[in-house]
Amino acid sequence: MPPQIKRLALLFVLFIGLFLTLKYFLTPKSFGEFGHYRGLALEEGKLKVPEYTGQKACAECHDDMMVLKMANEHASLSCETCHGAGRIHISSVDSVVVSPPKPNTREFCGICHAKNAARKADNIKQIDLKEHNKGELCTKCHNPHSPWQETK
Ligand code: HEC
Ligand code: HEC
Ligand code: HEC
Ligand code: HEC
Repeated sequence: MPPQIKRLALLFVLFIGLFLTLKYFLTPKSFGEFGHYRGLALEEGKLKVPEYTGQKACAECHDDMMVLKMANEHASLSCETCHGAGRIHISSVDSVVVSPPKPNTREFCGICHAKNAARKADNIKQIDLKEHNKGELCTKCHNPHSPWQETK
């Protein structure tokens, strides 16, 4: 065998050895326990507390809002769709109430209702966000919990 091939072969052996050593030390212990991932990742996942609670939880204290919402066009939206994740608010209620955001801007409603050629127009009703009752807050006329009901 010519010497340069021998050296190359030696280099290959060294690299493979280095790779196997590093793999041995760097692979987490629980890797491959169940599949091609860390087995412990499942345990870690179980320890996480869900941030979203679902709207049944909101209804326990805000049943008036729930009734209002279910009677109108926003019935299919969950409270947390607009107010964000509720866990911290709910777990804070007994001490100092951490209020969830009240996203009362035209842009917020526009996330779903602004005219957009890429949206099916008969699915969610669309308005021209610039022109539709210019300059006024949407909630001046539409109750966010019940869009066709008088606002307070
Ligand atoms: C254990 C009772 C309880 C639960 C459950 C609860 N809330 Fe509340 N919430 C309160 C209290 C008390 C206040 C403060 C008094 C008030 O403004 O009515 C409040 C205030 C709020 C406010 C702000 C009112 C303001 O004027 O700033 C929003 C928005 C709200 N809650 C939304 C929610 C949502 C969404 C959920 C479900 C994820 C929820 N709440 C679940 C008791 C609760
Ligand atoms: C379409 C978005 C949307 C949904 C869905 C929604 N909210 Fe709201 N909510 C708002 C906005 C916007 C305001 C602020 C209204 C204002 O300032 O006049 C608000 C205000 C509130 C307030 C403060 C009191 C008030 O009358 O201003 C409470 C409490 C509240 N929401 C609870 C809830 C609960 C509980 C649900 C589910 C049953 C819910 N919201 C669903 C958008 C929403
Ligand atoms: C997460 C998406 C979403 C957000 C945010 C949202 N809406 Fe809606 N809205 C809907 C859906 C879904 C419907 C029911 C389908 C429909 O009728 O367009 C609806 C219905 C309506 C309707 C009745 C349209 C009809 O069919 O007669 C009005 C008015 C309305 N929303 C106003 C608002 C206002 C004002 C806000 C802001 C406070 C808002 N919406 C925020 C999704 C949204
Ligand atoms: C000055 C009162 C007023 C304000 C402010 C207002 N609206 Fe309206 N909106 C109405 C009235 C009245 C209608 C029904 C007649 C029409 O379609 O113009 C309507 C209709 C709608 C519809 C149904 C459109 C359809 O095709 O049937 C949606 C969705 C809507 N508004 C969302 C919004 C949003 C989002 C905002 C804020 C960017 C807003 N509105 C601000 C009074 C208002």
